[in-house]
Amino acid sequence: MFSIGSIKVDPPLILAPMEDVTSLPMRIIAKRIGNPGLVFTEFVSAMAIKYGAHKTLKKMQIHPDERPLGIQIFGAEPDVMADTARIAEDMGADLVDINMGCWVPKVCKTGSGAALLKDPDNAEAIVKAVVNAVKVPVTVKVRAGWDYSLFAAPDLARRFQDAGAQMLTLHARFAKQGFEGEADWDLIRRLRDSVSVPLVGNGDVKTAEDAMKMLRETGCDGVMVGRAAISNPWALAKISAAMEGRPEPEEPTIEERIETALLHAQMQIAYECEVTTYDEALSHPELAMHEGRAIRSLRGQLPMYIKGIPGAAQIRSELYQASTLDDLDRIFDGLAATAG
Ligand SMILES: Cc1cc2nc3c(=O)[nH]c(=O)nc-3n(C[C@H](O)[C@H](O)[C@H](O)COP(=O)(O)O)c2cc1C
Repeated sequence: MFSIGSIKVDPPLILAPMEDVTSLPMRIIAKRIGNPGLVFTEFVSAMAIKYGAHKTLKKMQIHPDERPLGIQIFGAEPDVMADTARIAEDMGADLVDINMGCWVPKVCKTGSGAALLKDPDNAEAIVKAVVNAVKVPVTVKVRAGWDYSLFAAPDLARRFQDAGAQMLTLHARFAKQGFEGEADWDLIRRLRDSVSVPLVGNGDVKTAEDAMKMLRETGCDGVMVGRAAISNPWALAKISAAMEGRPEPEEPTIEERIETALLHAQMQIAYECEVTTYDEALSHPELAMHEGRAIRSLRGQLPMYIKGIPGAAQIRSELYQASTLDDLDRIFDGLAATAG
């Protein structure tokens, strides 16, 4: 357990922010099954919020069951970031996180995300502006630096801490790497010496063993898990159990995996319809449109729920083409019959 101001992160396991993945339904499922101590929304564009984009505002919608929760924002202009941070706080965020790790060109070319690692003065100005704008804690997620020539994180971390940031997360890769190579956890250990606020390590944690090793070897306070948690809240459950000294939970059965995938789809439909439950969504006048949109948005995630089950590879393309919950029921029924 560690604390960010008055927020207790217990267990010290954090669900990573992931664009188009950590939507409200995914986070609720991750929380119920995997029990992470803190979850994050996907990143939210401060510029899009400034221009009132409804779709972006919806990304800040939260549910009390998922607390504590951080809303992550990105942008390059301190005043626009400050305004968005205020909105995030009004939406109920327990903390506001600033993205300085996204390496993709569409984000970096605007001077946002990991591009800020090359512009320490503006990065610090953003942290200051956001800290001054909100009462909730402000945290920052960085990569080690832009490219290998400079491990920028220690200097930046000190500046952010002095500016009032209350936690730092390091994805232990350089921006230029994208997702290539292995995360270098030694960078986390080296950053540990530079900051006194809680430090969260991130990069390539897949199992409970990995998480415990990262805690032990780097001295970080918490472990953030991204890809290993996609369609696999049970990976989080194993890590939580190890952190809390409980026995390892059982592997999910095929039925559990299928039920969870279907629940995710139902919750995503409700989310698209902007109602709370799937039952309410059923009477939505534009249900068909929202249903199609919701199921297509899960194209990447649904097949991953059943990865490794005999017959799963064969139904991948069927899942890809599915556009209704009935389609999913039929495809999964076929799989359960083959695998069982
Ligand atoms: C699909 C996807 C979307 C991501 N979106 C974000 C994001 O919105 N904000 C962010 O800070 N990092 C984002 N990341 C990076 C993750 O938060 C994390 O730092 C990275 O995946 C490394 O952790 P892992 O090895 O546990 O996956 C994303 C990663 C993936 C795979």
